[in-house]
Order: sequence, then structure tokens, then C-alpha cells
Amino acid sequence: MSEITLQPTTTPLKGKCFVPGDKSISHRAVFFGALAQGKTEITNFLTGDDCLTTIKAFESMGVQITQHDEHVEIDSEGYKHFKEPTQPIDLGNSGTTARLLLGVLSGLPFHTTLFGDQSLTKRPMDRVTIPLREMGANIDGREEGKYLPLAVRGQALSAITFKPEVKSAQVKSGVLLAGLLANGTTTVVESTKTRDHTENMLQAFGAEVTVDGLAIHIEGKQTLKGTTIQVPRDISSAAFFIVAALIVKGSKITVKDVGLNPTRTGILDAIKLMGATLDIKETTNIGGEIIGDVTVSYQTPKGAVIEGDIIPRMIDEIPILALLASQAEGQTVIKDAEELRFKETDRIDSVVHTLRLFGCHVQPTPDGMIIEGSQTLTGATADSHGDHRIGMMIAIASLIATGETTLTDKEAINVSYPSFFDHLTALTNDK
Ligand code: S3P
Repeated sequence: MSEITLQPTTTPLKGKCFVPGDKSISHRAVFFGALAQGKTEITNFLTGDDCLTTIKAFESMGVQITQHDEHVEIDSEGYKHFKEPTQPIDLGNSGTTARLLLGVLSGLPFHTTLFGDQSLTKRPMDRVTIPLREMGANIDGREEGKYLPLAVRGQALSAITFKPEVKSAQVKSGVLLAGLLANGTTTVVESTKTRDHTENMLQAFGAEVTVDGLAIHIEGKQTLKGTTIQVPRDISSAAFFIVAALIVKGSKITVKDVGLNPTRTGILDAIKLMGATLDIKETTNIGGEIIGDVTVSYQTPKGAVIEGDIIPRMIDEIPILALLASQAEGQTVIKDAEELRFKETDRIDSVVHTLRLFGCHVQPTPDGMIIEGSQTLTGATADSHGDHRIGMMIAIASLIATGETTLTDKEAINVSYPSFFDHLTALTNDK
């Protein structure tokens, strides 16, 4: 495991930043491109480890995929022609690949075994295996199918109406994908809207999907048609630099062509709720996904209570928001975020543990944390614990910490942002 020594920045962040493609959208582009008949071309694909895992999974079922950096071409005869993989499928660290793939494999006429890394092996899969079994899926595994490794024997599936207890786009998408292969019309009714890239992109691939408020209906036995997908840049990656610009004196940056889908922009709303100003310009809409630029400069936000429906819209940004809160005036309380406990790490514990290493006063709660503001950070030796977003939070904290910071297990960042340090260096070196 490699480490990196980081010094506090002596220069503000300046200039424009083009973060890589969106992780959720890159996964889905490969899923639907593989399921569809014909050619699919993906541009600005995220070459992070998780999305490469999705490509390998479909290659192991015989789908022709060519990837050159951010450009991916898929040539598929459609899901009816997928072949039984000869080896177990390695899902690495990727929860999205796991939950969505379970939905697909449940309805295909062959046997597969899925396994993942240490972190993924601890993450609950029953949130998706339970509804899939209700549709007729035959899934078995550790603790009665709660955890990987899991074995799936594909079956004919029947449509269900499903009301998920967890607010999870992965679960919603896993069931919708099974619904695509099932007999009848499958309906998912959410209690709070989660990221809706699956619904948007299925339509781009010619599928019949109806969204009616919080209910999504998908017709079974549909054929998707290959298409072209331009992946917006990832707001979840941009969030690290947006917060960096807010906390490093004198900074002013613009993150360009970033996805501004309203189901993903909770982080921008939370920053505004904390009294900071952002300049957000929507520039275009591609395949139902809004894209635009966000300009942000150094300022001191105020502590706030972040709770309720905003949480699923910013679930992956809470680690970096917690760092911002440590620099705000007054206390910040994060509530209703118990889902953080089921991420790549238990992100309530890992954020609290990491911020404390930097000398912050922060208390965990069952569903979030309480962060004191106006903290002086002291450089620390901090481990990503194999969690990309914790690794990037540590790197951004190091910019304003006094003294040296050592980030250990830095390669975890490759899961979603392999060029993170190059982009950070460019922003701090912009003349
Ligand atoms: C994702 C959904 C979210 C998010 C994850 C990606 C997706 O997870 O945290 O990084 O692509 O659907 P949940 O669905 O578990 O909330």
C-alpha cells in the first residue's frame, strides 16, 4: 500500500477544473450498452477502478467492449446472447456493480458467482436480494444471501411493486433492471427521490419507462437499442475541489461541464444553506442530464443543520461537507444519514475518526455527526481505510492543516478519481 506526504498549500486554488466523468452514469452506460442490441459509444467514461470492474463483468459474459481511456465502444447482440461466465465475477470495491448486476443476473438463464473485496464483502446485499427473490430470483450466499459471495441461478422473473425501505438508487436500479427482463410491469415507489440516472438513461436506450412522481414503472421483456452516451463530469468528485476553494484563502475556481442533475446537487444546496455563495450556470442538457459550471471562491460559511430529503441527494459528499463544517462559524449537525454506515467504510465512524486525527472536535451520532466549527487542523498520519472519499477528504484537509500530513493507502482514490492529485496540483499551481 502506498502513501503520500502532503504539505499545506502556500498558494490558493485558481483556475478551471475538468473533473472526470460521473461514476454512476459511467456504470449505467456500460450496463445498458451491454444489455442493448447494437453499438453503443460512450465518451468521457470514468476510468476509475469501479467502472472498469463493470466492463470486466460484462466481458466475462461475452460482450465485446473496447476501451481506450475515456472512450468506450460496446458491440452487443443484447442480453439474450450473454454467455455463462466460466469464472466467478470479481466485483472489487464496487457496490453499484454488485447491486445492479444482481438484478440483471437474476433474470438470465445461467449460473454465476459474485465476490468482492474485503469492504464489499461486509456491505449488505439483502436490500436487493430480498425484492429480487420476490420476483422469483434464485440467489444464495453467506448469511442466507445477505453478503457476498453470492451465487445466482437465473430464472424467469415476474414483475412486482416494490417500496424500498432504504433510500438507495442502487437498490432501485437493481430491481428496475430485473423488471426489464421480467414478465409484466415492475413498479418501484420510493419514499424520497434518489439519483435517477437509471430512469433517464433507460429512456435514452429506447426503453419504455414511466416516472410518475416517486413511482417508476418499467415494462418487462423490452429490447434496448444501442446509442451514444456523453458522460457528464462527476459532481461528487468536483465537491472535493469546491470545498477546497471554500476553505483555502484567496481561492477562486470554476468546475466545468459538471453534472447538475437535481437528484445529485444536495451538496451545492447544503453549501448555500450554510450561507456561502456559489455561481451555478446550467449550460446544456444531454440525455436528460443537466450540465453546467460552478464557480466558487474562498469564504467562511456558517454552521447549519443538514437533514431530511437533502441527504440522499448528497450522500457521497458528506465526508467532504464534514471537513467544510469544521471550518464554518458555529456548529453543524448532520442527521438522517444512517446510510453512511453502509458505504465503502462506515462513513460516520471513518469521518469522525479521521477529522479527530487532525484535531477536530466532532461527535458521532447514530444517524450522522455533530461538527464544531472554526477548528485549526494539525497535520496527521491518516489512512483512507480503502475508502476513496476518505482518502480525498484527507488530501483536502492537508491543504489547510499546519505541518505535514501523510495519507496512507492512497490508491483507494483510484476507485473514482485516478487523476485526483494531478488536478489538485494544477489548481494550486495555476498562474
Ligand atoms: C450510487 C448510489 C448511491 C451512492 C453510490 C452510487 C449509484 O448508493 O452512494 O456511490 O450509482 O446508484 P446507494 O444506492 O447505496 O445509496
